[in-house]
Amino acid sequence: MSTIAVAGLGDVAKYVVEELNALSLPLKIVLLSRESRPWFDQQPNIIFRKTDYSVESLTQHLIDVDVLICLIHSNDHFYNDVHEAMISACKTSPKCKRFIPSECGGDIEKFPQHPEFYVPTHGAIRNLLEEQNDIEYTLFNQGWFMDYFISGDRSYLKRILPVWPLDLEQQTIRIPGTGNEPITFTSARDTGKALARLATTNTKWDKYIYIAS
Ligand SMILES: NC(=O)c1ccc[n+]([C@@H]2O[C@H](COP(=O)([O-])OP(=O)(O)OC[C@H]3O[C@@H](n4cnc5c(N)ncnc54)[C@H](OP(=O)(O)O)[C@@H]3O)[C@@H](O)[C@H]2O)c1
Repeated sequence: MSTIAVAGLGDVAKYVVEELNALSLPLKIVLLSRESRPWFDQQPNIIFRKTDYSVESLTQHLIDVDVLICLIHSNDHFYNDVHEAMISACKTSPKCKRFIPSECGGDIEKFPQHPEFYVPTHGAIRNLLEEQNDIEYTLFNQGWFMDYFISGDRSYLKRILPVWPLDLEQQTIRIPGTGNEPITFTSARDTGKALARLATTNTKWDKYIYIAS
């Protein structure tokens, strides 16, 4: 039986947990968060572990874990602190040697400098992972979540205006760029399915994995 840990119990984590259970595999799902999140308590096969994301706490909580998926949503040093602690904990773990950091963005190979505020956070963690060989990892991206095209009550995703250019209530749109740049849209459900599959496959991961609905 595999044990998959999901860290950061927010919107995308709901899809990942549902899709892990939908695989109907013999799985344990360890949920890591700073606070108990009632929605997750109702899900089958889960074990909740409260953490402060310190190396000590993560080392203890990953003791029986095979794969760690991070879904923390942060654009400041908290992102670095959490990911650095996860990498350290995985390095010393006898078991947890597969790690998916929190990316879920766009084409980071062609455009590693976008968005600019990701360079000191996501960019630094990509470099840290690149420099080590102890942990297998993949940088998983799916473009924009297409859930923002539908009303909030039909998706677990909260609205992220003004980052997302389409305001359904005000019926306004503000597209960055020239309007000619290609954009990828993927449903959060498909992201959940893909992350669940990746976490449960024995096939070696590519360094970069992209999906699109
Ligand atoms: N491409 C896109 O369209 C798109 C859109 C949205 C998100 N994303 C990405 O998808 C991934 C998951 O996002 P999500 O929407 O599921 O995230 P979320 O629900 O906003 O938050 C996920 C978790 O991140 C932690 N968190 C949230 N806000 C925080 C803050 N201000 N400071 C510190 N920690 C914070 C919390 O962890 P605890 O449970 O421990 O408290 C929370 O449960 C992230 O990588 C995010 O950047 C991509």
